[in-house]
Amino acid sequence: MSIFTSKHILLCVTGSIAAYKAADLASKLTQAGALVDVILTPAAEKFVTPLTFQSVTGRKAFTDADLWGGEAHVLHVGLGQAADLLAVAPATASTIAKLAHGIADNLVTIAALAARCPTLIAPAMDVGMFEHPATQENVHTLCGRGVYFAGPDEGRMASGLVGRGRFVEPAELLGHIRLTLGFGGKLAGKKIVVTAGGTQEPLDPVRVLTNKSSGRQGYAIAQAALDAGGTVVLVAAPTALIPPVGARLVPVRTAEEMKEAVLAESAGAEALVMAAAVADFRPKKTAADKLKKRAGIPPVDLEAAPDVLLSVKGMKSNRPRVVVGFAAESRDLLENAAAKLKSKTLDLIAANDISAPDAGFSVDTNRVSLLFANGDRESLPLMSKAEVAEVIIDRLSGLLEKN
Ligand code: CTP
Repeated sequence: MSIFTSKHILLCVTGSIAAYKAADLASKLTQAGALVDVILTPAAEKFVTPLTFQSVTGRKAFTDADLWGGEAHVLHVGLGQAADLLAVAPATASTIAKLAHGIADNLVTIAALAARCPTLIAPAMDVGMFEHPATQENVHTLCGRGVYFAGPDEGRMASGLVGRGRFVEPAELLGHIRLTLGFGGKLAGKKIVVTAGGTQEPLDPVRVLTNKSSGRQGYAIAQAALDAGGTVVLVAAPTALIPPVGARLVPVRTAEEMKEAVLAESAGAEALVMAAAVADFRPKKTAADKLKKRAGIPPVDLEAAPDVLLSVKGMKSNRPRVVVGFAAESRDLLENAAAKLKSKTLDLIAANDISAPDAGFSVDTNRVSLLFANGDRESLPLMSKAEVAEVIIDRLSGLLEKN
C-alpha cells in the first residue's frame, strides 16, 4: 500500500496552457492508487476537456455546468469534504488572487472555500505576472494560511520569456503532493537521517574503488520517512536516482565525507538509518595525476576506511535516539547480522542475503530479516524495496515511541 492508495485528491485545473500537463498528473495520481476528482474552470475548458480527465481517472470530471445542475447545492461541499488534499494545478494568477480573497465565482473557487483539507497550489504564469506585487502579496497571504506552494520553476514559458513562473513537471508535482499527504504523520517534527548509495574511494583523478549499491533501498527509506511526516536528511553517495521531494540532500563521495556528514547531521536527530554501502578499504594514496599505462600496472595498497556506525557509537553526546543498520551478507546471514547489531550498538538491523538474485544490490526487490536489540526477530517475505522501507520506518517509529 502506498501513501496514495484510496486517497481522494481534488484536482482543480485552471486556465493555463500548462493545463494539458494536469492530465498527465491526473493519470500519474490514478496509477499510484489515488481517487482523483477533477474540476475545470471555464478558462481551463478552453485548453482541455473534461473527457481528457475522465479518460485517465475513470471518474466524472466537473465543470461550471455541474454547478447549475441538479446536485449543485451539495456538489461543491461534497467534493471539498471528500478530499484529503485540494490541489490547484496549474493555478493562474487570477485563481490565486480569488483564493487569497475568498472570492467564490466558479466551481473551483467555491469548492476551495468549502474544503477543510490541506491545499497545494502549483502556479503557472508568465514571469511578470508571478513577480507582480499583487500576485506576490496573494501568495504571501495564502502561505500565511498554511497553503503549500509547489513551484513555480524557473525556465522558458510558452510566451518565449524566461524566468520564474513555469508549472512544476508532473512527476515532481507528484512528489510534492506525496509530501503534503504525509504531513502530520507519526514522524512529524522528527529529524531522520538516512544514508544511501555506495561510497567512492579515489585511486587517481579518474578512477575510484566502489561497490554495486544502487542506492535504491536507502532512497526508498528516505521516501517512507517523508510519507510518515519526518524531516528527512539524505546523506547520499553518488547514485543515478532522483532524491524524493522534501528530503534535504547532502551529497558525499568517500567514506570519510560520509562519516563527517553523518556525525554533523545525526547529532540530536531522532533516528539514523545507515543503508549506505560504505567502503571498508580505500587506497592508501590517491595519485595527483592520472595513472598512465606506460608506467606499468600500479600496486594498490589499501588501508581501513572509517566505520561510520562505530563513529556514531563513539559520539559523546546528542547520539540519535534510534540507530538502524543494514547487514549485507553472502553467508551466515543471521549470525553475522546479530554480531553487527551488538558490535555497532544498533537498535535494529536489517539483514539481507546479497547472494540471492532477487534481493540486495541493483534489483527492485529485497528479502530482509529484522533483528532487534531486545532479541526479537522478524523475517519479511520477498518485497519491493518500497515495501521493505515502509516496514522499517514503521518499526523505527515503534522504537521511537518506546525509547
Ligand atoms: N557501515 C559503516 N561504515 C563502514 C562500513 C559499513 O557505517 N565503513 C555500516 C553500513 O552502512 C551498514 C552496517 O555498517 O549499516 C553493516 O555494513 P556491512 O557492509 O554489512 O558490514 P561491515 O561492518 O562493513 O562488515 P563486513 O564487511 O566485514 O561484513
